[in-house]
Amino acid sequence: MNFKRFRRLRSAPWVREMFQETRLTAADLIQGVFVADAKLAAEPGMGLPGTERYRVDQLEGLMERVQKAGIPCVALFPCNDPTVRTEGAEEAWNPDGLLARSIREIRRAAPDVGIMTDVALDLYTNHGHDGVVDPSSGDVLNDETVELLVKQSLAQVEMGAHALALSDMMDGRVLAIREALEEAGHINTLLISHSAKTASSLYAYYRKTVSFDATPGGLDKRSYQISPANGDEAIREYVADIEEGADATIVKPAIMNLDLMARMKALQETPLIAFQVSGEYMMLRAMDRDQPLVEKSPMWESLISCKRAGASAIITYGALDVAENLL
Ligand code: PBG
Repeated sequence: MNFKRFRRLRSAPWVREMFQETRLTAADLIQGVFVADAKLAAEPGMGLPGTERYRVDQLEGLMERVQKAGIPCVALFPCNDPTVRTEGAEEAWNPDGLLARSIREIRRAAPDVGIMTDVALDLYTNHGHDGVVDPSSGDVLNDETVELLVKQSLAQVEMGAHALALSDMMDGRVLAIREALEEAGHINTLLISHSAKTASSLYAYYRKTVSFDATPGGLDKRSYQISPANGDEAIREYVADIEEGADATIVKPAIMNLDLMARMKALQETPLIAFQVSGEYMMLRAMDRDQPLVEKSPMWESLISCKRAGASAIITYGALDVAENLL
């Protein structure tokens, strides 16, 4: 008999439940958290749950919710005041800066929650590029930047970060940072490289929220971020990052790069993290902007698609909202 009744397996809730291939749980989610000092925190953000800028004294309440929801990890993004941003990004290793104070507060309030920090200079430079800019050519200098990323990484570990997410896209940084961490005895710090980070228009809301991109039309990061047109190039970088010592890798924007997740997963077993970026989050929540998240929402569909493609975890600003309302 050639005719097949596929609908048999979808015919009742019990059978659909029994054969569901992937599941989304709170343990899969990483809450993206913007932190700021009083002045910036008071300014309106993206206007969606999870995208507000938290003051350090508000983190305790947030972390209570994170723990209660069963979310294992938070990813921190400090919205540094423009006055502390410099050409050389010195604020990136300030042991009493906004990031350091936030990490200390989170470790105090929720000692069992993982803290992921962003390694890249963009939140600390006055131009918003992820690295050091050559004043004559305007180029983002690779090797000079890697030296500073090593300094930033060691400082973040000293501040108390558990996992470093390298979002800068410089060459050779995974190896350089891994060696420096080993040398300093930080053997248990997770290194998570953004292996496939495409030069995307979907970062615009993030850049507005961390408030550094005053460039009309947006900063051009195409000399270090991968073109959305190139999949093989992303895979080459992914393989190299793992060889250099990355424990896990990040793909972003998530829904634009589901094919890359599936390809990576087929190549190696290293855990993959999808990053549902600010622009995706805004798009996905457009349908329920003013209402609570509902079952079968675009958010759920997007997150479960990441899992289907091979992601073990997903960074999203909506983690708490999803965990509290959908799971
Ligand atoms: C930069 C960085 C970016 C994001 C995270 N880290 C943006 C950029 O490359 O300019 C984007 C995250 C988002 O849009 O939610 N190191």
